[in-house]
Amino acid sequence: MAKKKTKWVCQNCGYESPAYLGKCPECSKWGTLIEETDETVSASSIKKQNKVATSKSEPTLLNDITADKSERFSSGYEEFDRVLGGGFVKGSLILTAGEPGIGKSTLILQSCGYLSSKGKKILYVSAEESEKQLKIRAERLNIHADNLFILSETCLENIFETVKDLKPDFLVIDSIQAIYSQEITSSSGSVSQVRECCYSLMNLAKYMNITTVIIGHVTKDGTIAGPKILEHMVDAVICFEGDRYREYRILRSTKNRFGSTNEVGLFNMGEHGLKEVKNPGEIFIAERSEDTAPGSIIVVANEGNRPLLVEIQALVSQTFYPAPRRVSTGIEYNRVLKIIAVLEKRIGLNLSKHDIYVNVVGGIDIDDSAADLGVALAIMTSFRDISVDHKTAVFGEIGLTGEIRSCTQAEIRIKEAYKLGFEKIIIPKGNAPSNLNLKNLKIVCVSRLIEAVSSALQQEKP
Ligand SMILES: Nc1ncnc2c1ncn2[C@@H]1O[C@H](COP(=O)(O)OP(=O)(O)OP(=O)(O)O)[C@@H](O)[C@H]1O
Ligand SMILES: [Mg+2]
Ligand SMILES: [Zn+2]
Repeated sequence: MAKKKTKWVCQNCGYESPAYLGKCPECSKWGTLIEETDETVSASSIKKQNKVATSKSEPTLLNDITADKSERFSSGYEEFDRVLGGGFVKGSLILTAGEPGIGKSTLILQSCGYLSSKGKKILYVSAEESEKQLKIRAERLNIHADNLFILSETCLENIFETVKDLKPDFLVIDSIQAIYSQEITSSSGSVSQVRECCYSLMNLAKYMNITTVIIGHVTKDGTIAGPKILEHMVDAVICFEGDRYREYRILRSTKNRFGSTNEVGLFNMGEHGLKEVKNPGEIFIAERSEDTAPGSIIVVANEGNRPLLVEIQALVSQTFYPAPRRVSTGIEYNRVLKIIAVLEKRIGLNLSKHDIYVNVVGGIDIDDSAADLGVALAIMTSFRDISVDHKTAVFGEIGLTGEIRSCTQAEIRIKEAYKLGFEKIIIPKGNAPSNLNLKNLKIVCVSRLIEAVSSALQQEKP
């Protein structure tokens, strides 16, 4: 019998302590430590349970190992394949993480529909929804698959039994937080359970060579035990993000043992499920009106090696607080603070008596530093209450001395803005194209923020 003892585990980061602590020393969150009974699961019991790796592994010469490139297969969606690095790798373990209701089950079920039409045998373990619920969703998504088995089960050991009998090619666990192992006494969703279940599934995936997708929930404040503590165990972490109340969804890999993490996939959520967005250039500026308001700027950001035009908005208003507020959605907070500091010091804006709100329209997160110039101009125009012509786009990174630094893939960005009908683009001097002849597009190269500001405010006389 395994030895029982209790420990206190941070549900946010997995930190363990023998006694209760109000604040986690690892991640500094309050009240996240929860008591869990820890059964020191012995190696033999893991093997017994998994019936895997019972024999000792022998070393093999690297040259003797054959790896087949064709061991990849498509998910049925180009956008998804790209994020995976060219499709699913046979026998790999993939974590699909996202906020509740974002569309994780939909994405994976649609992919299962495609895979089963290609003759793959699939087991979809639904630990959260009943078989009926899944059927209703499948009908809405128009999935009529032959080889798709649904199992409504939450006990890991029972799932293993089924997997061993059925021997599927593709296994889905929806979701990791809802299943539990009998070996562990703490409740499902706790750090010990999630970690143990994931570990067992990893062994199963490698041993039986089953491609396994684990679905996991994350919340913005990260209070649920989850994906963070699983990242090192899985081969790839695919994050599904976007605004639940709007139709666009972005698929991004934050870890991938088989491909680049630079790629993103874009989807559109509708009544009949997720559709790929193949030409994403303008989706985020589609609703923009002709007469621009102060504080709105279009930037050409680069997401996953593809140019994406997004609108950045800023609102600068007189503060009623002792310390003015700075709120940022979609752009990293510290980056915005840095830009505000540069505006104050290099352009001479006095923003200390003003609240500043910055927002990326469309509910997406922009990591690209080329958005800096857009943020600066949005704040500046809102402060001065003047607007920039709506046919103007910008990109460029801002340095602390107020210089505009060059960005990657400038030509692609310029061409995208041209394609979408922009008439003027402000870019870093370092990115000045040598021989780009685009009729009707005025390319303004700037080396300092002050030049960018005066160029942006110059109205072209008709
Ligand atoms: N009839 C419908 N028409 C349009 N969109 C729908 C419809 N039904 C569901 N959706 C969309 O699907 C989303 C839910 O998808 P799904 O259940 O795949 O999400 P999930 O990430 O698996 O959620 P959960 O965290 O509950 O498991 C809803 O938020 C909504 O955007
Ligand atoms: Mg779901
Ligand atoms: Zn912690």
